[in-house]
Amino acid sequence: MQNSLSGKHIVLCVCGGIAAYKSVELLRLFQKAGADVKVVMTGNAEHFVGSMTFEAISGHPVFKGMYGGAPDAEMRHIAWADEADAVVIAPATANIIGKLANGIADDAMTTFMLAVTAPKIICPSMNTHMYENRAVQRNIDTLEGDGFVIVDPGEGELACGAVGAGRLPEPGYIFDRVVSIFFSKDFKGKKVLVTAGPTREAIDPVRFVSNPSSGKMGYAIAKAAADRGAEVILISGPTNLKTPYGVSRNDVVSAGEMADAVFDQVDAADIIIKVAAVSDYTPSSKAEHKIKKGEGGISIKMERTVDILAELGRRKKHQILVGFAAETQNLKDNALDKLNRKNLDIIAGNLVGDPSSGFNSDTNKINLFLKDGSIEELPEMDKDAAAHVLLDRIASRIMETQSKNNN
Ligand SMILES: Cc1cc2nc3c(=O)[nH]c(=O)nc-3n(C[C@H](O)[C@H](O)[C@H](O)COP(=O)(O)O)c2cc1C
Repeated sequence: MQNSLSGKHIVLCVCGGIAAYKSVELLRLFQKAGADVKVVMTGNAEHFVGSMTFEAISGHPVFKGMYGGAPDAEMRHIAWADEADAVVIAPATANIIGKLANGIADDAMTTFMLAVTAPKIICPSMNTHMYENRAVQRNIDTLEGDGFVIVDPGEGELACGAVGAGRLPEPGYIFDRVVSIFFSKDFKGKKVLVTAGPTREAIDPVRFVSNPSSGKMGYAIAKAAADRGAEVILISGPTNLKTPYGVSRNDVVSAGEMADAVFDQVDAADIIIKVAAVSDYTPSSKAEHKIKKGEGGISIKMERTVDILAELGRRKKHQILVGFAAETQNLKDNALDKLNRKNLDIIAGNLVGDPSSGFNSDTNKINLFLKDGSIEELPEMDKDAAAHVLLDRIASRIMETQSKNNN
């Protein structure tokens, strides 16, 4: 997230809805990512959050009236629209949605919106019955047809007590949707298969063998690929993570289930990135009932699981195949051995054990070993940034292969 909006001008429009308080956090997220943020408010929004809050945090005056005020206020609807790289309306009331769908310009926000040519992201938020009202739905469809990006509201218990659709999504989710519009879509037309998380190998109905993989690296790669236009299938072991926007997720539990799910998709995939920490061994048999404790110890006989990556390497045709190697020692030797033995194009290796790298941390320090023999040591960076660097290297490899095929 760090600096992902550096140099960008974002205009945040706040309407008179109960979720207006969440816009303050959204403003902070944009700023933390390096954006310069200006705020436009409707007159009614001031009943919910004072403009002084937005002025103090954004460092700019709030644009809320067409006439009077600061000497430049009269032309702000044009100047701010020209400068904007993206405009976000959050929360968007039924009222503003209706006005924008019909080209009405009777206040600062609606007049400003007509002058905006940058991407417009609109986050409807209201009572469920209001949201489901046919006029509101018709207006949302109109805005979508006019090129607005609609961020669908979440479902759940609303402030008015109703339960259903209409809740403003969390600021972090809206932030991600806004950031994604700035990525180049260099993976458009590509199908990317990503595996993530741990597997669980059952010993009995209440116990299993697993590992501490959080799935964060794989989810970051799936999100980055979707942001860059790919069709992404994420095959995930058990994690607590949310499915990134635009990613289609298939949940599995054991190594065997993961193997089946991956082999089902392999032929259709252009790029396969295997990040999951798949168990190499599984109990030879699973007890039907909970094993009761006795006096002595017990031994559990384990057998090998399918080596998914090696099998993918054997089946590989046109696909780019990327593996991960989490090692506790001899990273280079182990990673290079895996790269060659399993017929991979790239292997991303990291030493686990350091809190800034590997399982469950938000950052990673990975080395990339490429098929052409080159090795790239990446500095410690957050997993989102590491995911994009990996995708950059994959994109270069696709370009190289294409130019070889053309010659
Ligand atoms: C307490 C309260 C909460 C409201 N919450 C919402 C809301 O979440 N969404 C919405 O569309 N309208 C909501 N309204 C109604 C709007 O404030 C009203 O339609 C207003 O005209 C919107 O003005 P604006 O779009 O110019 O900001 C609420 C009204 C009140 C009094």
